[in-house]
Amino acid sequence: PSAQIGVTGLATMGHNLARNLARHGFSVALHNRTQERVDALVAQHGDEGTFVPVSSLEELAAVLERPRRVLVMVKAGPATDAVIDDLAGVLEPGDIVIDGGNAHFADTRRREAALKEKGIRFFGVGVSGGEEGALNGPSIMPGGDREAYQALAPMLEAIAAQVGGTPCCTYIGPDGAGHFVKMVHNGIEYADMQLIAEAYDLLRSALDETPAQLADVFETWNSGDLESFLIEITVRVLRHVDGATGRPFVDVVVDEAEQKGTGLWTVQTALELGVPVSGIAEAVFARGVSSHSGQRERARGLLPGPAGRPHVDDRDAFVEDVRKALYASKLVAYAQGFDMMRSANERYGWDIDRGAVATIWRGGCIIRARFLDRIREAYDRERELPSLLFDAYFTQALVDGQEAWRRVVSLATASGVPVPGFSSALAYYDALRADRLPAALIQGQRDLFGAHTYRRVDRPGSFHAGWSGDGQEEER
Ligand code: 6PG
Repeated sequence: PSAQIGVTGLATMGHNLARNLARHGFSVALHNRTQERVDALVAQHGDEGTFVPVSSLEELAAVLERPRRVLVMVKAGPATDAVIDDLAGVLEPGDIVIDGGNAHFADTRRREAALKEKGIRFFGVGVSGGEEGALNGPSIMPGGDREAYQALAPMLEAIAAQVGGTPCCTYIGPDGAGHFVKMVHNGIEYADMQLIAEAYDLLRSALDETPAQLADVFETWNSGDLESFLIEITVRVLRHVDGATGRPFVDVVVDEAEQKGTGLWTVQTALELGVPVSGIAEAVFARGVSSHSGQRERARGLLPGPAGRPHVDDRDAFVEDVRKALYASKLVAYAQGFDMMRSANERYGWDIDRGAVATIWRGGCIIRARFLDRIREAYDRERELPSLLFDAYFTQALVDGQEAWRRVVSLATASGVPVPGFSSALAYYDALRADRLPAALIQGQRDLFGAHTYRRVDRPGSFHAGWSGDGQEEER
């Protein structure tokens, strides 16, 4: 028997991607560290296509068509390195190794370079959409050698989600570019989730309505500009009733948001690239604050807040304000995320096409949304758009939304509802559009205590003011 592609690592994601490939007519060799997963997949789903079970990597290499294609679906980190090392021992120059896990893009860069020395072509492929997406069509972000992509494109594009006949998969760039884009996807996912949560918190605090009633608000929003998978699942979560107690599900869940770390990577990377991603950072920090249960417990009885809850005269007008604030904040968070790709292109010599990324995020992934069409159109209008906020469509959304946004942030802060996502997005917006920033004062402070110098508005050069002595400015 022979197979067109091998999958090693048959936990949920690998298992479902293998089935997705087989369902699309590709013959799939199956390998797993323990044989049970291989046998279980064949026993349960053997009729979905052609599976070739193997029990060692040697056997895997023997059954694969040349150049061999092996999809590695094991835990990110040392487990991935171990499997890649073993594979390198059984593969030949020209073969292709595909890492479909949530790897850090720096690891992908390192692995790509190491395998290149052996002539093996390595692909770091971001896969979004969870287990459901893996089976029925994920969004796929492949990074690696462009020529090798030709050997993968037919498979990856076939198993990806399709939107209007376009696959949610396209070549992203060399080495770590695919995993980089997947990382940014997750950062944006964190920001979007945080913003939706803040909108819910505001509505819940200000209105006398149950989670199920608020689900109706989100459902209405889901038929407009905000239409997205995350809003859709918000409706489902808010409507869900706990079987054991009959209470709203959101009220029985411990309010400490966990994280596996991809949001953290996004923020760390953004700091290194010097790209302000305050929306994403606040989302990561907000999860952190929620999880500090000890401090929260002590603060609850100690630190005062304003009296009473947010007061709202006109319920429908308030709901509309929150919708606009959510949309404007979301726009900022996405603009910041896409800005990371621009910066990474410069840093790593990539050419990530942001319009193409928006296109493949329209389906399959967690942040899939109508909004991504607008983003794609913005980059169609101007490929190197410096910020999404400058596209005419989005500028108009900010013109329409900014007053509502300010009212919502004011009401939230005056009444003690934490809205780090909404308020940091607004601060970013105001900083970007300011005539003058107090950064000038900071430059003065730096020059005073450290002679770090400053530039002047009226002539070129670097200067140091005479803080002591004769007060004479010198050019440095
Ligand atoms: C996706 C998801 C996926 C995973 C997140 C969850 O694109 O399919 O982003 O990768 O569900 O990593 O992340 P946290 O556990 O950090 O919230």
